[in-house]
Amino acid sequence: MPLIALLPGDGIGPEVLGAARRVLDALALDLHFEEAPIGGAAYLTQGQPLPPDTLALARRADAILFGAVGDPRFDALERRLRPEAAILGLRRELQLFANLRPARLFPGLEDASPLKSEIARGIDLVIVRELTGDIYFGPKSRRTTEEGMREGNDLMRYDEIEIARIARVGFETARRRRGKLTSVDKANVLETSQLWRDVVDEVAEEYEDVALAHLYVDNAAMQLVRAPGQFDVIVTGNLFGDILSDEASMCVGSIGMLPSASMGSNKQGLYEPIHGSAPDIAGQDQANPCAAILSAAMMLRYSLAFAEPAERIEAAVAAAIARGARTADLGGTLSTGAMTDAVLAAL
Ligand code: IPM
Ligand code: MG
Repeated sequence: MPLIALLPGDGIGPEVLGAARRVLDALALDLHFEEAPIGGAAYLTQGQPLPPDTLALARRADAILFGAVGDPRFDALERRLRPEAAILGLRRELQLFANLRPARLFPGLEDASPLKSEIARGIDLVIVRELTGDIYFGPKSRRTTEEGMREGNDLMRYDEIEIARIARVGFETARRRRGKLTSVDKANVLETSQLWRDVVDEVAEEYEDVALAHLYVDNAAMQLVRAPGQFDVIVTGNLFGDILSDEASMCVGSIGMLPSASMGSNKQGLYEPIHGSAPDIAGQDQANPCAAILSAAMMLRYSLAFAEPAERIEAAVAAAIARGARTADLGGTLSTGAMTDAVLAAL
């Protein structure tokens, strides 16, 4: 029986993961769940955001369903003790280098998007974000100069192996979709980006059936709101992918709608909504559970080969939205629980 590690974390994490769990339970698949603390919640009880037992469970699991981490109470701690260190640590320890973030507009959500309806309607894209390298994981330092001036340093770095493997995920993803890959970098300024572009071009020779384009990240950010329908698959580095995926989420109505899958070189994956812990609405039964529910669907598809139940979940979310179910972020009044009920009713 597949083992699912449930890591609820902080803020709205436990609420949205609870919703995802209800939907999974309704499908009555043979799944075994084990829960462990992570993030600020783990720091409070165990003094560290990613306790060894939590990491051990994550390693053993066939898939990890993750809520969110982040708690302003811990922002002043040294970086390795902050809640965010937990998710970064998991990605690195499990070598989950490929983050897939699909963004499409669910019919009915046109009004929730700040874009004009006819523009929003055309959005159906996947961001393939590199997740274990870049400026996120390069050496960091702080120092005070002899003159007493404070200085901060983060090193942006990629090697060609890291770039080639994420490029392949991008090409493979595009091949299964509409055959269009856009690689996003800042090669006009950054050396890491020039290497990125060179390596992507080399890998492209293995994928002559995929149409490749390169865009600078500033232009990509602009194109995403100007004409997002032009994008099929976007492949990009860790930092640019973080930023562009938040932008894409808003274009389809709400960050509360975007799931993600983080994969390594085998079938084990970590599945999480792309939104954070939203401390301002935590514990109020107000969060949109759709991103977490759709993350559970991705988990069934990619780690557990349950393609049909995954489709059922996605269809149920779409049906609930089409029938008018809306949480506050989508301009509605439903609670987390009531939105989950609406999805379950459509299942
Ligand atoms: C995300 C989040 C994380 C990231 C934070 C919580 C460290 O913003 O998954 O997009 O920057 O990767
Ligand atoms: Mg982010």
